[in-house]
Amino acid sequence: MHPFKAFLIEENDGLTKGHLVDMDESQLDPGEVLIKVAYSSVNYKDALAATGVGRIIRRFPCVGGIDLSGTVAASADPRFQAGDPVIATSYDIGVAHHGGYAEYARVPAQWVVGLPTGLTLFQAMALGTAGFTAALGVVRMEENGLRPESGPVIVTGATGGVGSLAVDILAQRGYQVTALTGKEGEIGYLKELGASEVMLRSSLDLSRIRPLDRAIWAGAVDNLGGDVLAWIASTMKQGGTIASIGLAASASLKTTVMPFILRGASLLGIDSGYIGEPYRSGVWQRLASDLRPQHLERMTRTIAFDALPAIFDEYIQGQARGRVVVSIAAQ
Ligand SMILES: NC(=O)c1ccc[n+]([C@@H]2O[C@H](COP(=O)([O-])OP(=O)(O)OC[C@H]3O[C@@H](n4cnc5c(N)ncnc54)[C@H](OP(=O)(O)O)[C@@H]3O)[C@@H](O)[C@H]2O)c1
Repeated sequence: MHPFKAFLIEENDGLTKGHLVDMDESQLDPGEVLIKVAYSSVNYKDALAATGVGRIIRRFPCVGGIDLSGTVAASADPRFQAGDPVIATSYDIGVAHHGGYAEYARVPAQWVVGLPTGLTLFQAMALGTAGFTAALGVVRMEENGLRPESGPVIVTGATGGVGSLAVDILAQRGYQVTALTGKEGEIGYLKELGASEVMLRSSLDLSRIRPLDRAIWAGAVDNLGGDVLAWIASTMKQGGTIASIGLAASASLKTTVMPFILRGASLLGIDSGYIGEPYRSGVWQRLASDLRPQHLERMTRTIAFDALPAIFDEYIQGQARGRVVVSIAAQ
């Protein structure tokens, strides 16, 4: 195989920096499945990893990219054959095992999911970890009893990848969705995705969060953590469910037990990274069917591989909107 292009993240003198390099197959990590990568995507975690703003990478140097879709080039595992279209996301990909920002990836077979019927390799990456996580949040909340008739559901970090997909998936399932955003200019975008109401973060007074406040939400998909999550907990309805997904604002949480013991609210931790089979394939199948977002194209833009290094800052600044697919295979 000829040398191929990869975005390698290195650490030198405590500084993290990623750059495009040439690699060859012998440098890839061990695994049963060699994949010719077609597309990858950009998630908040990818930006934390590539910039070093978050201590995400556990093994340097590491090819970034926690998501990839492509075609099996060779497989030592009978579950996959050369030519199969596949997805690989999560686990150690892009953080402790060379990831999706490369023309080839080699990964353990147990990390690989067959492309569900009805999804293209491009759509799989428009969804990516963000879509998988939004869907996993919805599945877990519904397992906990949430239904459209339970009442309104709030989605925070609503213009981001997970947020946009959660708004869309919930709205198409009949939920009344309130989108919470910091971006006044994106109210129209969020309504197009299906939000019935858009709230601006600046309208919240987070300086005085009461243990229990007016009960509003039957459900919540939280991408922010910190004071916003504390406020959500205090405003949950009886028996409401929160899916705790992200920490884009803060990893801390100062709340009381009141919402949990007096209103029976549930705080569900959502971990897309290590949830295994058959749950993982099941959620992907549902993303291609009953949880399929209606506005995937509207929320997705595509960048060339060479444009990757310049993209991460907008994520760190909280300016990301929707999903970015990275076109890895030469077009
Ligand atoms: N638990 C899991 O398995 C899992 C999986 C995927 C992602 N995550 C986490 O979920 C969160 C969202 O991920 P994502 O990929 O959707 O991110 P993203 O595309 O970068 O979106 C994050 C959004 O959060 C809002 N935000 C508010 N304050 C922010 C700040 N200080 N910095 C950055 N964003 C800020 C912004 O939206 P508004 O302006 O609309 O508020 C921003 O667009 C991240 O914390 C990520 O690490 C967790």
